[in-house]
Amino acid sequence: MSETRENFSGKTGFILAAAASAVGLGNIWRFPTVAAEHGGGTFLIVYILVTLFFGTMLMITEVALGRHTRKSALHAYGQLDKRGKLIGIVSTIIPVMIMPYYCVVGGWVVGYFAAACMGTDMTAASAFGDFTGSWLAVLAFLAFVAISFYVLYRGVSKGIETVNKIFMPALLIMLVCLTVYMLIQPGIGEGLGAYLGFDWGKLNGELILAAIGQSFYSLSLAMGIMIAYGSYMKKDTDIERTVMSIGVIDILVAFLAGLFIVPAVFNGGSVAGGPGLIFQTLPNIFAGIPFGEVIAVLFYAIVLIAAATSAISIGETIIASLRDVLNISRTRSLAITALFTTIAGTLVCLGFGPLSGMKIFGMGAFDILDFLTNSVLMPLTAIGMCIFVGHIIGNKVIQDEVKESSEFKTMRIHSVMIKWVCPIALSLILLSGLGII
Ligand code: PHE
Repeated sequence: MSETRENFSGKTGFILAAAASAVGLGNIWRFPTVAAEHGGGTFLIVYILVTLFFGTMLMITEVALGRHTRKSALHAYGQLDKRGKLIGIVSTIIPVMIMPYYCVVGGWVVGYFAAACMGTDMTAASAFGDFTGSWLAVLAFLAFVAISFYVLYRGVSKGIETVNKIFMPALLIMLVCLTVYMLIQPGIGEGLGAYLGFDWGKLNGELILAAIGQSFYSLSLAMGIMIAYGSYMKKDTDIERTVMSIGVIDILVAFLAGLFIVPAVFNGGSVAGGPGLIFQTLPNIFAGIPFGEVIAVLFYAIVLIAAATSAISIGETIIASLRDVLNISRTRSLAITALFTTIAGTLVCLGFGPLSGMKIFGMGAFDILDFLTNSVLMPLTAIGMCIFVGHIIGNKVIQDEVKESSEFKTMRIHSVMIKWVCPIALSLILLSGLGII
């Protein structure tokens, strides 16, 4: 390799970078909806437990795999055993498929942030559709790509770490302020009860699977990201504590986002999910509260930070993999990744406008990429990783790596989870994503 591998400057740098990857649209956009759909408080408790005992165990495994091999996912698995090569290949393809469409959503956020700053009225029912189908959406997408790749161009410590150090705390502070402000608005009580109320009757298999699926996506697992980041982690950084901190930050942001959004949009029924929630429902809520214009600017700034820092983490993962495959410099790898993202993302963007007639199996490019990654390839890769680590190479590799920097207090839980619980639960998620169960 033409340049030496970069390192995060220490524990804080790593926690911030991994948390910045984890905290994304999944927390602010997806979590509030899923939580509201599945009975609020009941879902929240299950989600917290699942993240602490399930998600973090998978994350420890990924980070340790990366740090042990000092390779990105593509070569990490194969280096440990030839039978792992396929898992490495699939984990490498996933971020390549996610990057274009994640940046398209990032572009929508740029558009809404700009509209909020300029005071443009986005409350009309057709505003979102009109925007995503226009050339402005392509322009906003290009702006999002430019921001993300500029940070990547600055490098791991000067770019990614610096941005995270400033923007992650800013995100948290702004989110706390917005949430407090929203909670003092009149008429919030009923929605608050729905978000925080616990009800045993709502606890069922479907809720648990939804919580696992959400936690899994929210922690950026099975995308090779944590393996790539682990490969930049110093040997003396405590993997277990670091991962637990990331889990806690991720839960906190999701909880706050839910607290901000769910009671506000609650109207006695269910909460609109998907793009509708933050791009259609919220502009109407903002229009009806005092200082709504300011709240809108701050809110879209938060979503923009969350989306950009996650996109940066996927971009970094692709860049690291390309370097490993082609043995090229970071700059070249970055240029290829940026070019690919621009071209593929523009096509996805146009799928909402001029190219909307182009469909495969009735789905546009956006839905296909989303379905293939979230419902098929990510659960498959994670199942593959659990079988590979738990039953082929053996958990000892991971345990020894964790112990290089600290005690491994959750070692027994980790072992049972990786060998049995995670692969079974993930198989159920895969089957339910495919509509089989
Ligand atoms: N964890 C991210 C989120 O919550 C998900 C993600 C990260 C998706 C990186 C893609 C890339 O939004």
